[in-house]
Amino acid sequence: MARATCKSLALLIFFLSLDVRVDAATAILAQGQSLAGDATLTSSNGAFSLSFFTPHGGDGSRLYLGVQYAKAVEQTVPWVANRDAPVSAAASSHSATLTESGDLQVLEGESVVVWRTNTYSSAGNATLTLQDNGNLVLTGGAQAVQLWQSFDYPTDTFVPGMRITLDRLNGAVARQTLFTSWRSPDDPAPGNFTLGQDPLGSAQLYIWRSRSGQDGGRNTTYWRSGQWANNNFVGIPWRSLNLYGFQLAGDPSKSSGAMTYTFNTFNSSLYRFVLQPNGTETCYMLLDATGAWEVVWSQPIVPCHGYNACGQNTECSTGDHGQAVCTCLKGFEPTTSAGEGCVRSSQLTCSERNVSMSGGDRFAELGGVKLPDFATWESTVSNAESCRQWCLANCTCVAYSYSSGTGCLTWNQELVDIYHFPTTGEGYDLFIKVPASVLDSDSDSKRRRWTRVIVSVAIAVAFVLAACGFLLWKCRRRIRGGRSET
Ligand SMILES: *[C@@H]1O[C@H](CO)[C@@H](O)[C@H](O)[C@H]1NC(C)=O
Ligand SMILES: *[C@@H]1O[C@H](CO)[C@@H](O)[C@H](O)[C@H]1NC(C)=O
Ligand SMILES: *[C@@H]1O[C@H](CO)[C@@H](O)[C@H](O)[C@H]1NC(C)=O
Ligand SMILES: *[C@@H]1O[C@H](CO)[C@@H](O)[C@H](O)[C@H]1NC(C)=O
Ligand SMILES: *[C@@H]1O[C@H](CO)[C@@H](O)[C@H](O)[C@H]1NC(C)=O
Ligand SMILES: *[C@@H]1O[C@H](CO)[C@@H](O)[C@H](O)[C@H]1NC(C)=O
Ligand SMILES: *[C@@H]1O[C@H](CO)[C@@H](O)[C@H](O)[C@H]1NC(C)=O
Repeated sequence: MARATCKSLALLIFFLSLDVRVDAATAILAQGQSLAGDATLTSSNGAFSLSFFTPHGGDGSRLYLGVQYAKAVEQTVPWVANRDAPVSAAASSHSATLTESGDLQVLEGESVVVWRTNTYSSAGNATLTLQDNGNLVLTGGAQAVQLWQSFDYPTDTFVPGMRITLDRLNGAVARQTLFTSWRSPDDPAPGNFTLGQDPLGSAQLYIWRSRSGQDGGRNTTYWRSGQWANNNFVGIPWRSLNLYGFQLAGDPSKSSGAMTYTFNTFNSSLYRFVLQPNGTETCYMLLDATGAWEVVWSQPIVPCHGYNACGQNTECSTGDHGQAVCTCLKGFEPTTSAGEGCVRSSQLTCSERNVSMSGGDRFAELGGVKLPDFATWESTVSNAESCRQWCLANCTCVAYSYSSGTGCLTWNQELVDIYHFPTTGEGYDLFIKVPASVLDSDSDSKRRRWTRVIVSVAIAVAFVLAACGFLLWKCRRRIRGGRSET
């Protein structure tokens, strides 16, 4: 009898716990519980919340389960669960339920599963928590083993604590973190732009534009961060302090293994990096006092930020009205064929035995630029002069750049996507291999300019002397005249 009572009591408790709805704000969603209506799951520091929402500006007919910044004045959603499967607001009910088996499900009505984590906790005790960095974590069992985390399934936003990983096996991509823009500001469905690491392992970040939007899309390159320079990217003029900002773990010189970017915050301010629906990547910082977002940097925002805006062997600088001004690199001239960009005006001498002779090839310096794409990192070369010699000695090398951050970079093909930074002190120095004759004719034209200056100075001096002489002569005449008057 006692055993039977115990059994039914256990059953009763089981059924009670089966569909416990969490109504107000809560810190943990336990096995069998669900989040419905306006209920929120909140991180212990109060910075993040998980709830159903309708995107700002949307018509309110579609509901999404998403993580939001609790202290931002405007709706800010760094992560969405059911981004391409919204719950209809017309449905009788909706909920986010952590099942008895440890699966987190977004339900429309009582039984239609529109999204799930596909997790299973064999040891029970499944628990969903929203961590202080905005990571939604599902654990199970007595040891609270992690079964799933939202940081492994990003939408359009990178936040500190996340990773941007490229994992390769013999050069082939085994696993890669990709961020996909929203389709529009009021539709979280996957949009036209995707951000991730270069699959070739250059450690650059790329934004690709897909034509169909749904193809996992990396067909045309839209933007590039530039090479990794030890504590920042060559193309992003945002000098972070050592140990803060982005960090890279892994070895870019190996064709197997993982390369992972993380971000360390400077202080308690919250940072986020969003791939906007129009393909612009923006870094924001939350202002504690007002709850407003301040833009830290944003790219691409001028045509020159766009990938290879001017075509090959050009530099792109921004004109007075924001437009792209394209210039051929030194030693190149506009192409006469149909394509864009520039071609060499005279071929390189390119002979190893001729290096030390007069004539031969030399380097034209181009300062303050975002270095071109498709660089080769010469990991064994450790100073500027060796880097220069390396490039000079190799016929296929067309340019090099050396800095302590990037090391020795060389290029063996047409130079693409060179952006000239508007502010001096930004960007890196690129040395472009040209026939010596190109530099000689250049110093000729400098000399000519210099001559012109000397001549005009001489004319000016002569004019001033003549004028003085004339005044002196007039003065004397007046004095003489004055005397004669008295
Ligand atoms: C259940 O998991 C939580 C953490 O998620 C842990 O603190 C707790 O000890 C676990 N309880 C049992 C009974 O396993
Ligand atoms: C996405 O691409 C499609 C087709 O190329 C285009 O019609 C649409 O306007 C694009 N959306 C955005 C936000 O650029
Ligand atoms: C982009 O992808 C779409 C769909 O996969 C394909 O039809 C199109 O040809 C691709 N475009 C380029 C430039 O690769
Ligand atoms: C954090 O650092 C940034 C950049 O230096 C600064 O603008 C911001 O005010 C700082 N935040 C706090 C809370 O000190
Ligand atoms: C994209 O949208 C952002 C935010 O609305 C805006 O600041 C930026 O100028 C836009 N970029 C382009 C290339 O239209
Ligand atoms: C040295 O360069 C000249 C052109 O400047 C070329 O004609 C000659 O063949 C080169 N000599 C060798 C040994 O490569
Ligand atoms: C020249 O560069 C190419 C491409 O990086 C490389 O394969 C080749 O080994 C180099 N040659 C010499 C002599 O260093």
